[in-house]
Amino acid sequence: MIDMMQLTELPRHVAIIMDGNGRWAEKMGKPRIYGHHKGVDVAIEIVQEALDLGIPYLTLFAFSKDNWKRPKSEISVIMTLMMNSLKSEFQRIIDSQVKINVIGNLSDLSHEVQEVLEDIKHRTANHKGLQLTLAISYESREEIVMATKSIIKKALLGDYKIEEINQDTINQHLYTSSLPYVDFLIRTSGEQRLSNFLLWQSGYAELFFDDTLWPDFSKDDFHKALNEYNNRERRYGKTGQQIKQQIFAV
Ligand code: FPP
Repeated sequence: MIDMMQLTELPRHVAIIMDGNGRWAEKMGKPRIYGHHKGVDVAIEIVQEALDLGIPYLTLFAFSKDNWKRPKSEISVIMTLMMNSLKSEFQRIIDSQVKINVIGNLSDLSHEVQEVLEDIKHRTANHKGLQLTLAISYESREEIVMATKSIIKKALLGDYKIEEINQDTINQHLYTSSLPYVDFLIRTSGEQRLSNFLLWQSGYAELFFDDTLWPDFSKDDFHKALNEYNNRERRYGKTGQQIKQQIFAV
């Protein structure tokens, strides 16, 4: 058990690729959707824990653009699960001032799902607690293309001079414009790739790959991951010596 009180540094923005629901269910001889049901319970538990620990931003990869290639029946269960959980089980964390935001190409979703998401965004818009971002029908490269097009349009209209375009300009045109960059990115299930998730935003994120399948990911696993983050030295290109001097200068 990790003593969370001993952690000196918590990440400001944690992003999680919740992977392994299907394999978890298959291992138990159950249909894949059983894993997604358990996956939602775990997602809620981890959001609650992030809230209790005081992590201000949490982004969950709930449904990727590539997930549309799955059998229609599985997609339909995931969408229904998402809607139902947001209307019911998520209520407890919403009552704790969690602000919910959604990123992705939401026009891909049915009107019914869009309405639920709009409603929850609207109802939590003034909440001051943890900012929970759900990435749904999301793909990082598509997001970057969208931002690029929108910057070019503005440049053609004269709103920007080409030489004024910088990293902030791109950042301001991403879905995540109101969020800080990702500090810590966790992926469960042993896969070690980013799968087109927050590529720009994770440019300096610490990466953590856990073998645990998402439905088995516990609060304790989350604590272990955060402990590992705490032990990493984020140098941003500087030397270890420079970082130590920076810390003592504060
Ligand atoms: C990854 O496991 C999980 C998904 C693709 C979807 C998970 C989304 C939910 C359960 C809904 C979450 C809803 C909210 C509101 C947070 P996988 O199926 O890719 O697992 P596998 O790699 O073992 O096949």
